[in-house]
Amino acid sequence: MPLVGTKEMFKKAHEGGYAIGAFNVNNMEIVQGITDAAAALQSPVILQCSAGARKYANSHYLVHLVKAALEISDIPIALHLDHGADFDICKSCIDDGFTSVMFDGSHYDFKENIAKTKEVVEYAHAHGVVVEAELGKLAGIEDDVKVAAHDAAYTQPDEVEEFVKSTGVDSLAIAIGTSHGAFKFKPEQCTRNADGVLVPPELRFDILEEIEKRIPGFPIVLHGASSVIPKYVKIINANGGKLDDAVGIPEDQLRKAAKSAVCKINIDSDLRLAMTAGIREHFAAHPEHFDPRQYVADGRTYIKELVEHKIKEVLGSDGKAPEIMQLIKG
Ligand code: G3H
Ligand code: 13P
Ligand code: ZN
Repeated sequence: MPLVGTKEMFKKAHEGGYAIGAFNVNNMEIVQGITDAAAALQSPVILQCSAGARKYANSHYLVHLVKAALEISDIPIALHLDHGADFDICKSCIDDGFTSVMFDGSHYDFKENIAKTKEVVEYAHAHGVVVEAELGKLAGIEDDVKVAAHDAAYTQPDEVEEFVKSTGVDSLAIAIGTSHGAFKFKPEQCTRNADGVLVPPELRFDILEEIEKRIPGFPIVLHGASSVIPKYVKIINANGGKLDDAVGIPEDQLRKAAKSAVCKINIDSDLRLAMTAGIREHFAAHPEHFDPRQYVADGRTYIKELVEHKIKEVLGSDGKAPEIMQLIKG
């Protein structure tokens, strides 16, 4: 099966009360860890590349790594551009064979966001590619878009219908309290549970519900959805790392979102933490090792373990590959 778009994935995810994991990829071992996990659980998956990933690895390497993964697994895989900052990067990815792009115009005003998104949609749709756009601003840092916490703003439900209709976009990323990176909340914004883990304030499910009412059945995307799993943070800190007070989105909230109109959940920081944990643990146990195949393999093993956990416990997409392939094949 060739690379697929996300239309059929989102249709099934919405009907079935699950979400598709969108995992950021930057190198071979990350692609392998994710797709090994997805194939083992027969889960559809979205592999996404940021501008930084394309700069780091070269877009052609990433496209071919993803195509190699596709050849040895029998699951639907979409290749998506994460946070495209302008028309040119979206066009470049479409021309490179990506099946989905995000145009992130969230930092423009409403009318300009619509105009720029529409331009990308027209080119993408003419080439059979789907488009994700964003309304509202998440706090955090992406390659070309930096949003300070005080500038972050929830998505306004009153704007979504006009935005979706005027742009013709295929899915919409919204801001309901998630943010990018491993330090999503300050400790003073959180309470501590019985295990001493920092628990942040709840996501704004009330805003999500309002949005669902305005655009029923339309696929919603959650960015900044890493949970910052304490297990990996502990391994990192126990083996020479220093990640104090890292806080993510609790998994029960993401599971609740996956059962709603949220069809795509973006995860990058958790992959970074898992890989770093595997490599740090390896070096601490084997200071004499210097063969990258030994220590990077341990990072890959933790990525596979993490993605299997996400698919089963958070996304609910295990075993869903066949129904999507069936829909695509008609
Ligand atoms: O949302 C941002 C992603 O985590 C990608 O991060 O731009 O550092 O590759 P990056
Ligand atoms: P995290 O930093 O929470 O993993 O978010 C990743 C993301 O939204 C990529 O677009
Ligand atoms: Zn993002």
